[in-house]
Amino acid sequence: MTDIVPAVEGLGFGGDYNPEQWPRRIWDEDVELMREAGVNLATVNVFSWASVNPAPGKWEFGQLDEIMDLLAESGVQVDLATPTAAPPPWFSVAHPETLPVDEYGRRKNYGSRGEYCPSSPVYQEAAVEMASKLAERYASHPALAMWHVGNEFFQRCFCDQTAAAFRTWLTERHGDLDGLNHAWGTAFWSQTYTDWEQVLPSRVATSTPNPGQILDFQRFCSDALLGLFRAEAAAIEAHSEAPITTNLMVTGNFTMLDYHRWAEHMNGDRRLIAVDHYVLPADEIEAEAQVAFAADRSRGLARGGPWLLMEQAANSSAWRQGFFAKKPGEQLRHSLSYVARGSEGALYFQWRASKAGAERWHSAMLPHGGTETKTWREVKTLGGWFRRLAEIKGSRVRSRAAILLDHESVWASANPGEMSAFIDPYPEIRRWHAALWRRGVVCDVAHPTDDLAGRSVVFAPSLYMLEDDANLRRYVEQGGTLVVGPNSGIVDRNDHVHDGLPGALRDLLGVRIEEFHPLRDGERAALDDGTEGAVWTEAAHAEGAEVVAGYIDYPSTGAIFRRELGDGAVWYLTTRPTDLDPFLDRLDLAPEVPGLPAGVEAVRRDHEDGRTYLFAINHTHKAVTIPSEGTDLLTGTPWTPRTHLHSNSAAVIRER
Ligand code: GLA
Repeated sequence: MTDIVPAVEGLGFGGDYNPEQWPRRIWDEDVELMREAGVNLATVNVFSWASVNPAPGKWEFGQLDEIMDLLAESGVQVDLATPTAAPPPWFSVAHPETLPVDEYGRRKNYGSRGEYCPSSPVYQEAAVEMASKLAERYASHPALAMWHVGNEFFQRCFCDQTAAAFRTWLTERHGDLDGLNHAWGTAFWSQTYTDWEQVLPSRVATSTPNPGQILDFQRFCSDALLGLFRAEAAAIEAHSEAPITTNLMVTGNFTMLDYHRWAEHMNGDRRLIAVDHYVLPADEIEAEAQVAFAADRSRGLARGGPWLLMEQAANSSAWRQGFFAKKPGEQLRHSLSYVARGSEGALYFQWRASKAGAERWHSAMLPHGGTETKTWREVKTLGGWFRRLAEIKGSRVRSRAAILLDHESVWASANPGEMSAFIDPYPEIRRWHAALWRRGVVCDVAHPTDDLAGRSVVFAPSLYMLEDDANLRRYVEQGGTLVVGPNSGIVDRNDHVHDGLPGALRDLLGVRIEEFHPLRDGERAALDDGTEGAVWTEAAHAEGAEVVAGYIDYPSTGAIFRRELGDGAVWYLTTRPTDLDPFLDRLDLAPEVPGLPAGVEAVRRDHEDGRTYLFAINHTHKAVTIPSEGTDLLTGTPWTPRTHLHSNSAAVIRER
């Protein structure tokens, strides 16, 4: 297995370090406290364009040299960032055409961050130059552990440069204008294009926009940012052999980028999947299940291999949904949960709380209150734990289930012109994952084209877009159990409706859909097994499958179907059960450790040589016993099946 953070011994622990905000004397205190907390990895230079390149053609590396040297002397390795996520004002003034334009054609101003058009050749050249200069200078610096390109790519622009780049992208995808007109279905509403110059990004239009245009623009935007990542990575690789990453955003319902495509370029010997995850107070699922989904999704992107939690909050996240504090012990439990699920460490945004600027109220490892704080004490505790957990590095997570996520399908299903305003697939996928989490089932987040073998159950709660059933059929025929949710298999890659609903899945499911019956907001459909469905129902008939449950109001049709095929079976639900448990009870789903109450998390990581580690994390208010034997690495004491795992605590048991 590739050692993902070669220069860091054991698990990575630290955070974004932005010392340019502070006078020099504070830096010495910083490294002293980093040592005290056990910090071994700091992300440096993320937003430092203005300091390393303060004017056109002017490069000043003195301050960064000093920071790198200081960290090297202090035994802290560096995840060195290219500061290309935030061009400084001089750059925007010199190149106003690099500022992004919104869908109404309004150019945005500088004064925040992320102020660039991904398709601007001037910006691209500047970003590559920045990456190249840094790589050349720091490739052999003793502090360097890895490279961090930009920061949380998210920009979107609708300007004329973007239009030109979009047309080039479309030519590669569709060949000629006939191909484009077919893919976008422009025969409807007289939208036929006769010249490439007529083709635009999906700017604001008079009525429902063309869904093919929107979907292709979403794909293009993701690819354009991926192109920036790859261009900077190539510039770095010309000088340095250290691994390269960028921090993907996996918080909440963020699905702007097709990370499955990104993952093709972020795995391998010199690449690493790294993610940022922030627990949201107003999310529809509980904090611990949010953590588990983000972690399982990250592991999916890393193809089951190692990944790194690049950012989390030590306490409050002072953004979007307002200020909230983490309860005592909460961030310790969350941090261990990420590691249990495959992260090779845990880093934070950021090391020291900022005195000024947009994020002065975002929490930090070292809060405004200093070292006499709960946050600091917990940071030190976690640093100590990670030292004792070093031997788990390189082990892999054991899982028996998978849930399918396809970004393109998610986008297409939620785009304007769809049949229901409430069908949004991503929250639904997360809802199923959370239900499995509460039952203690460790579940990978996989792509429908991944090799699914080895999982006893695979869930596809919402898979609207599917070209064909080949991969899913193989999984079922070879003995797997597949569970498919409603409105799946309906359209092809162009969002064109397949013949014979449910389209690509009709043969596999053995079900024919007569028509869709989406429900109103809050409306419920009663099933004859005593359960109820929400959001969506279908008038569906068995054609090879058996009817397991029906609708009380539509006795002639089925609601839940099951079909045996090859050595496996496939289930089809024509509605979204309001409560997933009665359905999950029908499946043969083994939790990692049987008999634990909901909220007691148990996940195993295994080494190839047979050593196994059971992470047991008690998120509840009651003590429990964990049926395992060995040594708790967090305390160094023996573990027996009678040992109590106290409420709000954790153990990592090296099993006998
Ligand atoms: C994101 C960014 C960080 C910081 C944090 C906290 O993850 O990458 O720069 O803004 O959020 O808000």
